[in-house]
Amino acid sequence: MRQVAGKSKADRYQVYVDGKWVDGASQKTFPVYDPSTEEVIAEVPDCDAKDVDRAVTAASAAFETGGWPQTTAQERGRILFRLAEKVRQNAAMLAELESRNCGKPIVEAEFDIADVATCFEYYGGLATKVMGHVNPVPDNALSLSLREPMGVAGQIIPWNYPLLMAAWKLAPALAAGCTCVLKPAEQTPLTALQLANWFEEVGLSHGVVNVITGFGESAGAPLVRHPKVNKIAFTGSAAVGKEIQKAAAETLKRVSLELGGKSPNIFFADADFEAAIDGALFGVFINQGEVCSAGSRILVEKKIYKRFLDGMTEKAKKIKLGPPLERETKMGPLVSKEQYERVRSYQELGKKEAKLAAGGGRAAKFKNGYYVEPTIFYDVENSARIAREEIFGPVAAVIPFENEADAIRIANDTPYGLAAAVWSRDIFKALRAVKAIRAGIVWVNHMQPTYVEAPWGGYKQSGFGRELGPWGIEEYLETKQVHINLNEQPIGWY
Ligand code: NAI
Ligand code: MG
Repeated sequence: MRQVAGKSKADRYQVYVDGKWVDGASQKTFPVYDPSTEEVIAEVPDCDAKDVDRAVTAASAAFETGGWPQTTAQERGRILFRLAEKVRQNAAMLAELESRNCGKPIVEAEFDIADVATCFEYYGGLATKVMGHVNPVPDNALSLSLREPMGVAGQIIPWNYPLLMAAWKLAPALAAGCTCVLKPAEQTPLTALQLANWFEEVGLSHGVVNVITGFGESAGAPLVRHPKVNKIAFTGSAAVGKEIQKAAAETLKRVSLELGGKSPNIFFADADFEAAIDGALFGVFINQGEVCSAGSRILVEKKIYKRFLDGMTEKAKKIKLGPPLERETKMGPLVSKEQYERVRSYQELGKKEAKLAAGGGRAAKFKNGYYVEPTIFYDVENSARIAREEIFGPVAAVIPFENEADAIRIANDTPYGLAAAVWSRDIFKALRAVKAIRAGIVWVNHMQPTYVEAPWGGYKQSGFGRELGPWGIEEYLETKQVHINLNEQPIGWY
């Protein structure tokens, strides 16, 4: 990213549009913070509709006349491999920048960055495996279906896995032959800008990928409305997902939405007890609970309820909170003041709605930074707001259940359907649960492992469309029917 000497200590960034580093049209910038110190670490352009139009015009030209869709799949694959290599070579720097900007523990950021490289590699390989079909039509004809790139993709991503979400969006789009305008979350734009530094060097020509920074209303919404954008891929809140679907209807864009969840993590009495306790904590507290698939509803069979709750509570109290860049840290601060206040308000609400076993407030030992305690509420009614609304922070709602049918009923009693997990040593019971749960992802005796090879996305109000695996590239492909008449005679109708 080209940095211009700023007035303050903070780095001043530009945005990447049409292969050039430029200021925003309005020249305005906004601050980006380190959530562990609350200090400003960067200033980035506050892009508006004008910048969006510039970026989309560039992406559209790259698609229509710039030759990107005509590059061979092999060439696009090689570009993605080179980008993966750049990420691997610079992994330490990227992980540090990510950790500093969004507050996640450095060790987790290192895993994320490795996954970023793997995602580019996976789609680099998949680029050459996109195939059409011969359709068996009952005539003397050759009927084909061809797969073609959808066009310009507008990609709007959140702040919890900043560069990984960028990779999940960019990699399949580029493999398919689409061009992109990426808008990172306003809280965490730095690693995506860093990535753009390498676009030209790896062989992405001007306009193929544009990265603009800005807020949802002023930069995200114009991207969704722009007539030259053919597809919107969004990860974020259900509220914004609904707005996007409405706005995209004006120009009938393809839309894929990966929204939040209130995912059940179900523990039967016959589960391996120690593994279960660990799985319950990992499911809801990893990444400070800022995870769309967080196992935020912990359903526990009554037979083990008390012992399970005590075990969880004891371990939760020992989770090491600390500055994100320290390697022993297991939980850093929340991403922003806004998110901190949101989570704090749910902690207070929980105290009215249920009983408190652990945490419940700000982590007092930190003077600055958006630190909250890992929090466990128990005896939570599934109708309580803390059991129904996505909190997106380290707040668990523990809910007792009677038996298998009860567990499934509670698990499915939610407007969401992103993920779920079930813990049991009884394979029949576990598999019955797998089939009965209405969610896009179900883990058995684990929670959260995510692989680029496997589909990711939700049922119900957790959105639609699937990312990752071969499903991910489908979201960027059109299907064209081609009919080739093999009769040399006229149709002979008139
Ligand atoms: P958000 O949904 O407002 O933001 C996500 C992205 O959408 C950002 O890039 C933002 O700039 C953009 N955006 C916002 N409004 C837009 C609009 N009208 N048109 C186009 N783009 C728009 O999420 P926010 O406000 O940061 O977090 C609020 C809650 O959303 C969280 O507490 C959490 O519950 C949920 N969330 C869920 C995520 C997930 O992975 N499913 C990720 C982030 C937030
Ligand atoms: Mg918002």
